[in-house]
Amino acid sequence: MEDAYIVKGGKKLKGNVVISGAKNVALKAIIASLLFEGYVILENVPRINDVDELMNLIRALGAKAAFSEKNKVKIDSSIMDKNKVDLLHASKIRVSFMLFAPLLHRFKKCYVPNPGGCRIGARPIDRIIEGMKQLGVKVNYNSGTGFYKAEMKEEGIKGEYTFGKPSHTGTEILIMLSALGKNKVILNNTALEPEVDELIKFLNESGADIKKEGSRILIKGVSKLVQKKPFQIMSDRNEAVTFAVLAVATKGEVTIEKIPIFLIEEFIKCLKKAGGGVEIYNNQKVRFFYHESLNSLNIETSPHPGFMTDWQPNWAVLMTQAKGESIIHERVFENRFSYVNELKKLGAKIEFIPLGVANPKDFYNFDYNPEKIYQQAIKITGHTPLHNAALQIKDLRAGASLIIAALVATGESVVQGASIVERGYEDFEKKVQLLGGKVKKI
Ligand code: EPU
Repeated sequence: MEDAYIVKGGKKLKGNVVISGAKNVALKAIIASLLFEGYVILENVPRINDVDELMNLIRALGAKAAFSEKNKVKIDSSIMDKNKVDLLHASKIRVSFMLFAPLLHRFKKCYVPNPGGCRIGARPIDRIIEGMKQLGVKVNYNSGTGFYKAEMKEEGIKGEYTFGKPSHTGTEILIMLSALGKNKVILNNTALEPEVDELIKFLNESGADIKKEGSRILIKGVSKLVQKKPFQIMSDRNEAVTFAVLAVATKGEVTIEKIPIFLIEEFIKCLKKAGGGVEIYNNQKVRFFYHESLNSLNIETSPHPGFMTDWQPNWAVLMTQAKGESIIHERVFENRFSYVNELKKLGAKIEFIPLGVANPKDFYNFDYNPEKIYQQAIKITGHTPLHNAALQIKDLRAGASLIIAALVATGESVVQGASIVERGYEDFEKKVQLLGGKVKKI
C-alpha cells in the first residue's frame, strides 16, 4: 500500500464534525497510568498511530494496554517487569522519554533512549534532564548507545525547580515524577498549556495532591494512586482549528461539536479579525464559515493562552486566501516551516523574511544560539488561487495543512506521508469525506 492521499480540490466543505480526544492529553494519561495501583480506564482516547505506538511500547515493558471499545483503553501495569524502553518503538514516538517517570517509581533505575517523533527543530530535552537532576535523580547519557540511565532514591524526588523557559512535556514529566513519594516538590515557571491541567486533574482525581497557582505548581507526594472512575480525555484543540480553517479556506461552513471554546479562544479572535465567520452556539459548539473576502492578519505564536504554534501551518494556508501580506512569526519551535516549499508548489506566494528581535534569547522559547542562522518568519502574499501538485508531508501539523491546501486548490494532488497525519488525527480521511471533501488514502 502507498502512504499517500489523493486529493481533489476546489469544493466547498460543509457539515458537522465531532472533535476527537486530544492526542497530547491521551499520550500523557497513558504514561501516567503506569504510576497507578490496579487498572486504569481512559475514555475518549483517539485511535491514532501515536497512541498505538505508545501502547506497543508499554506492552514491551510488560504492562497490559488495550482498547476495549473504539475509544476506551484499559491499562494495567501491575505486571510491568522491564526497566529498559525498547529502542525501535521509542524512536517512533517522542513522548517515550516521559517513561522515565513510571519506570523510576517502579524500579528506581531505568534506561530510556533519546526521544524520536516529529522533526520540528532540534527539540532537545535539556531542561527536563536538568529538572530531574535538580530534584534528585541521577541521570547519565551514553552517546554510544543513545540511552539515558536514570536512578532515583527510594523516597522519590524533592526540592524546587525553576524552568529557565517553560516546557510543556517537561512540566508534565516532573509532575508525574513528584506525584508519588514522601516529599514536597515545587515547580516554577511551568507551562500553562491546558493539557497540563488535564494531567493534574487526572492525577488528583486518583489521590494525588497537586496544586497549581499560575505558573507555580506545588506537589505533595502520596503513597499511591488508585483510579475511582474512568477518566475522559478532553477534546483536541488542534483538530478543532484544522477543521475550522478547512471550512473557511474552502469557502464552506463546518459546525464543530465537543470543543470547549476556551481551548481555541485566541484562534477564534484572530479568525474573526481576518474576516472569517464564527457563530458560537454554546460553550461546546461553533459554526465556522466563509462570508466575506478574507483580509491578511499577522500572527506570532506563543505558549498558551497565545496563538498556538501547532495552528500556524493551518493559518498559513488560510492567509494564501486572504487579501494582502501577512507575516507568521514562530517563537516556540525552530524549523517549523517544513510546509513552505510544498505550499509554493501549489502556487502560494510565500517567502522567508528576516525579522529583527531585540532580545532573541528571551523572545524565542527554544534555546537560541547566536551562532546559528534561523528562519523564524514568513511573509505570505494573497489572495492566490492554488493549483494541484505532488506534495510531501514532513511533520504532523504541516501534514494537515497540506491537505487543506490541496482541498482549496483546483485539480488533483498527491500528498505523500499519510501515516504522519494518522499519527495525530483520528479518522481524518473519513471526517473530511463526510464534509464532501474528495480525499482518498492509497
Ligand atoms: N525545549 C528545549 N529544551 C527542553 C524542552 C523544550 O529546548 O528541555 C524547547 C523545544 O525544542 C521548543 C520549546 O522549548 O522549541 C518548547 O517546547 P515544549 O517542551 O514546551 O514542547 P513539547 O513539550 O516538546 C508539546 C506538544 C507539542 C506542542 C508544544 C507546545 C506533546 C507531545 N507535544 O511539545 O505538540 O506544539 O508542546 O504546546 O505534548 C504536536 O502535537 O504535533 C506537537 C508538536
